[in-house]
Amino acid sequence: MTTQTAPVAWVTGGTGGIGTAICQALAEAGYFVVASYHNREKAQAWLAARRDEGFENLALAGINLTDFDACHAGVDDIRRQYGPVELLVNCAGITRDSTLKKMSPQQWREVIDCNLNSVFNTCRCVIEDMLEAGHGRIVNISSINGRKGQFGQANYSAAKTGMHGLTMALAQETATKGITVNTLSPGYIATDMIMSIPEKIRESIRETIPVKRFGKPEEIARAVVFLADRESGFITGANLDINGGQFMG
Ligand code: CAA
Repeated sequence: MTTQTAPVAWVTGGTGGIGTAICQALAEAGYFVVASYHNREKAQAWLAARRDEGFENLALAGINLTDFDACHAGVDDIRRQYGPVELLVNCAGITRDSTLKKMSPQQWREVIDCNLNSVFNTCRCVIEDMLEAGHGRIVNISSINGRKGQFGQANYSAAKTGMHGLTMALAQETATKGITVNTLSPGYIATDMIMSIPEKIRESIRETIPVKRFGKPEEIARAVVFLADRESGFITGANLDINGGQFMG
């Protein structure tokens, strides 16, 4: 049984570039934040760094998001240790960029599994607690490339567009139950994922952003805090683009 009383936020991909800023912002906003991760060594170093920054209300959970049973067990553990998940932020994501003519079935499957099937798994595993509580918030971190498509990202674009379909359907199913479900679509944010794009391509992308810079992880995190707020109950099934004006749809 848990003794902590702060509302529990589960951030998948919490130790990543955008995920870290989201965890920090939610912890500052008064949540107890559980960051789930893929790489244990990286995660432990991450937690030590957060402790050095003074964050106490953060914990780690190693959960394989592509495995439904593992998600179920992970959510049971979170509930037992810290309380039921009140806010779920789906931020885990990978890229396996390739033009379709060269894309392997494995590159397709890995991205769909990690970026889309995982969102079914996590939502399915927290929704019953949210329904029982009569309150819940889900924020799905999609991408500008799910909004407009991207050369070299048939897999990623498909997963990220699919994510918003799930958002809109689940938002309708839970609208009378005190639960909101929204999508947030970041543009190109200065994280390792972006920095690993070949420099020439990266620079040509930056040129197409009207504000002429990449975004900061904190600029995504503050929107998550806003959508998570209890006062944001009329915002559901929405997509919020945060992309420096690169795509206006
Ligand atoms: N639009 C049109 N044509 C393009 C193009 C583009 N954006 N980029 C490359 N091409 C052309 C090339 O000029 C070349 O043309 P020719 O064959 O006529 O010479 C051809 O396409 C190259 O095709 P290949 O299949 O050989 O491509 P490649 O193997 O050289 O590289 C790639 C393909 C790996 C996808 C590379 O283009 C790339 O890395 N692109 C960046 C993809 C990208 O933006 N990823 C975003 C990652 S960040 C992220 O995903 C986070 C987020 O949410 C924003």
